Amino acid sequence: MSIQALGYLGIGTHNLQDWSAFAIGQLGLQQVDRGGNSRAFRMDDRRQRIIVDADQPVADRFYGWEVANAAALDALAARLEAHGVAVTRPPQARADQRFVGGLISFRDPDGTQLEAFHSPMLADTPFQPSRDIAGFRTGPLGMGHIVLMVPDLETTLAFYVDLLGFKVSDYIRTPLQACFLHVNPRHHSLAIFQHPHRHGMHHLMMELNCLDDVGQGYDIAQSVSDRVAVSLGRHPNDYMTSFYTRTPSDFLVEYGWGAREIDDATWTPTEMTTIASFWGHDGLIRSVAGDHAPPPGDHPPPAAPGRRAPLQVVPGSYQTISGVCALWDAATG
Ligand SMILES: [Fe+2]
Repeated sequence: MSIQALGYLGIGTHNLQDWSAFAIGQLGLQQVDRGGNSRAFRMDDRRQRIIVDADQPVADRFYGWEVANAAALDALAARLEAHGVAVTRPPQARADQRFVGGLISFRDPDGTQLEAFHSPMLADTPFQPSRDIAGFRTGPLGMGHIVLMVPDLETTLAFYVDLLGFKVSDYIRTPLQACFLHVNPRHHSLAIFQHPHRHGMHHLMMELNCLDDVGQGYDIAQSVSDRVAVSLGRHPNDYMTSFYTRTPSDFLVEYGWGAREIDDATWTPTEMTTIASFWGHDGLIRSVAGDHAPPPGDHPPPAAPGRRAPLQVVPGSYQTISGVCALWDAATG
């Protein structure tokens, strides 16, 4: 009945050409021809993951959340309507346009347009990245995660948790208020940050299969003036090694590798005491807080020495080397 993964993202833009160049040259996505004033991009076996539309107002975005099947979609629609949320059921033409079996449309308390869908269509040709990368980590984890800024965290959080079935991964109350939420083993498919006067998407995270592809993406971003918004670093909650690039729109893309998976059956939400990364990510707090960034003296101190975590790798992607690891020895006693 509940949301299972982030499935697609739609973006209104005036900069169709810039978006194409960015998606192809920076992100490594595969552009698929949709004709007219829109462009669609693949990042895996799905027909499309990102849709950029010049006929859609710039401020308009839609977020596609996947459910298991048509019955789950009906159940979700009923639950939303029972709680007073207006749900529209677009015609089949819209589902065809999204390459899904069916969808509903509704808004969160901040006015963000959400879609829930089932039965995404697969492409009949393999994913072909536009530059030489080893692909994106998607599948049951979805296309990545998004971070939304809202003026009222409590109300928005209740909507996603109580009505859509998101579960809390961890949260922070100071110096910022934010909550990280999961719907599958990805540590968070959604994070919500409170901000007094900003709302909308802060960033979309896309996870690469290979660390070197992130590094080469970092090289490309650094070669373009003012493209890097947040330097390379490693997050302490999802363990992602990533950097953040500006896009032709007013949000960022986090381009990362090596995030952890969590098991909801055993996971206990914890309060974070800092959002400072293990290392790097210079510019992150400025980018999140904007004009409301704490004065320099109140910035979180650099990460304390000794904060670290094992690398998160998939079988076959690593080779062990000789020697001992104090971290592993400490964990295994
Ligand atoms: Fe992120």
